[in-house]
This record gives sequence, structure tokens and C-alpha cells, in this order.
Amino acid sequence: MKYLTFALTKGRLANRTMEMLEAIGITCEEMKDKDSRKLIFVNEERKLKFFLAKGPDVPTYVEYGAADIGVVGKDTIVEEGRKVHEVLDLGFGKCRMCVCGYKDAKELLLHRELIRVATKYPNIAKDYFYNRKHQTVEIIKMHGSIELAPIVGLSEVIVDIVETGSTLRENGLEVLEEVCPLSARMIVNPVSMRMENDRIKDIITELRGLL
Ligand code: PRP
Repeated sequence: MKYLTFALTKGRLANRTMEMLEAIGITCEEMKDKDSRKLIFVNEERKLKFFLAKGPDVPTYVEYGAADIGVVGKDTIVEEGRKVHEVLDLGFGKCRMCVCGYKDAKELLLHRELIRVATKYPNIAKDYFYNRKHQTVEIIKMHGSIELAPIVGLSEVIVDIVETGSTLRENGLEVLEEVCPLSARMIVNPVSMRMENDRIKDIITELRGLL
């Protein structure tokens, strides 16, 4: 039997995924050793392998077949636009992609002004403003702490993830428009989906039973 390989998003998403897999009887003892510097973890009995990766790399591993299955946020799936099958909404990691800024930026959105939009998600922002809102904007790609952009005057608004809303609140910013809801999703390599259909389908069915 061939190994089925999982690429998991490092951090909370990976932890939640392993909890869900444990609930359907899939464990990986090797992964529980927090001091380990190992990069790949094996469950010999079930012929499974697991590795942890940065979110944006997960769809890449899955598209190229280096991993059969991936778990990653919907934001990353949409932003990366890789050729993968999205097979299951895992229901955790729930948050929203939003346009945020100071309250008075609402007017600029309403009148479709040529504004600057700072974001870690240029493709999502482009699609939202150009294709859905038909508003021409200047998109500025940033790598983190996006809320700083309107505060220091880099951009009028941001497109970013809002979970509890406390980062916005503590900085006097607010949600101006909602782009889409987000959560953790399971993705599968299209060839693996055909070649390992039974094993992958069983996992999906069992996980769905938990939801
Ligand atoms: C994310 C996101 C927001 C914040 C939202 O940032 O970009 O900044 O969390 O969460 P909240 O609504 O619960 O406050 P993250 O912590 O991942 O870091 P980053 O800003 O450096 O990307």
C-alpha cells in the first residue's frame, strides 16, 4: 500500500486537524513530541505521512502531488489559486475576509474613489474590487500587521482577516464591507483523488460524520 501524505498548516490549524483525525482513529504519536526537529511524521500501521508547512505552501505541495491531502484556510486556497480539489469544510478556524478602515473611508468606497488598499491577499482584493465592485483601486501587497496601513497613512483601507475584531477595535478601525466567510478546508490532489479514491473518500466520510 502506498503512503497517503498530509500537508498541514503549521500552528492552530494543524493541531485542530490532528484532534479531528484522532476522533476518527487516525493518530500520529511521533507528532506529539514538541521538542522533535523531525519534518515528516509517519503512521506505519495506516501508511500515512504528515508534514507541517506554511499556509501558502500547502496548496503548492498538494497541486504537485508532494502531498495527497492538505488542510489550509479558505483564504489561502483562493489567494493561491492552485489546481486542487476542495473536498471538505472542516468547520474550525472560522473568520471573515473584510474591507476595513476608519469609519470615514465608507464614503470613499461608496463613491468608488481611486483609493489604496493594503493587503496580504492581493488576488482576493483585486477580484473583490475589480470584478465584484467594479472599482479601480491601487493594491499594495504587505506581509503582516496590515492594520497599520490606514493608521500610518499608507492606504485608505485594508483587505484582511477579521476573527474576533479586537485588533480593529483596539486601533479605532472597523469592518466596512465583508468579502467572504472563511474556515479551514481539506484539499486533495486531483490525481490522488482518482488513484486513492477509496482511502481518501473513507477519510472524508468519517470526518463529515463528526461535523
Ligand atoms: C490576523 C489578521 C488580523 C488579526 C485578526 O493577523 O491579519 O491582524 O489576525 O484577528 P482578530 O479579529 O481576532 O483581532 P495575524 O495575527 O495572523 O498576524 P499578521 O497581522 O501579522 O498577519
